[in-house]
Amino acid sequence: MDASMLEETVQNPNPYPVVAEKQYDDIWQLCQQARDLAWDAARDVDWAALKTEVAELPQEVREAGAEWWSLRAWMEHGATPYGCERLRQAIYEHLPFEIKQHVANFIMEELRHHEASFRIADCLGGYQPKPKSDYFQMIIPRFHVEKEEREMSFYAGMAVNTLFEQLSGELLTARYKNARYGQIRKACELILRDEARHVQFGRILMRRFFEQLSAEEKEMLGAKFAKKLRGSLLNGVYAVVNLPADERKRAARARSLAADYGLGATHPDEEVDIIVKALKQIRADVAPYDVPIPVIEEIEGDGRKSVLAAE
Ligand SMILES: [Fe+2]
Ligand SMILES: [Fe+2]
Repeated sequence: MDASMLEETVQNPNPYPVVAEKQYDDIWQLCQQARDLAWDAARDVDWAALKTEVAELPQEVREAGAEWWSLRAWMEHGATPYGCERLRQAIYEHLPFEIKQHVANFIMEELRHHEASFRIADCLGGYQPKPKSDYFQMIIPRFHVEKEEREMSFYAGMAVNTLFEQLSGELLTARYKNARYGQIRKACELILRDEARHVQFGRILMRRFFEQLSAEEKEMLGAKFAKKLRGSLLNGVYAVVNLPADERKRAARARSLAADYGLGATHPDEEVDIIVKALKQIRADVAPYDVPIPVIEEIEGDGRKSVLAAE
């Protein structure tokens, strides 16, 4: 074997103890629900029916829908490298079986959300494997920065991640309501069912582990949450508010068109309202643990930008 390859292989000096005894019944319950509610993105949605249904849509609308669902597919895929790192960490830190099982489920579930999304894009005229704009190509990789994650403990980091699950769950609910096509609606519904479990996992972690964090750690969690939201998620992922003007207008127009035709999308200004409302809820959820979430100037309060306003 090539020596440089050997250097890259991280060795686990001691794989033992491999913990089998369960410690967290509530997390194990989530794992069992995941088994009972498993679904198959290839078989549980009637893709041929969707393709026929959307065939009559104007070309411009189909393109906007394909772009939108491609973006959704990249986002869902963006959760998988994050999940892989957490699984690796859970194994190396000898965490209980139910934690490793939940994280493995999380990876698999995000991957099937990715699959359902690229299949919708395909029905609408073609999944795009990467963003058209150079600017946007830089955004998705910023979604997961492992160095930032490692500054937090395993459970604290995962709890922060699930705050984002809560935000994206709220957005997805609105997109589910927007979907006029039965099969898009069904895919959204199946995805939401998994996301509800991811959110639940975060609530369990907060309940179990947030009490033990120091004031500095809590402040860091709040700051990291705000940083990720502003730095990547408002840059075209959850909303388009922080995109450069040209790209913002283009992306906003495409999203609006997809939403007007009921393709399971949201209007750009509506997205901001949903995020602001969800932020209020998240602040209320973390308030008992004194985790401060800073004000997000560009969408909350006086600093709010109007997404569609002319420059
Ligand atoms: Fe997902
Ligand atoms: Fe998720």
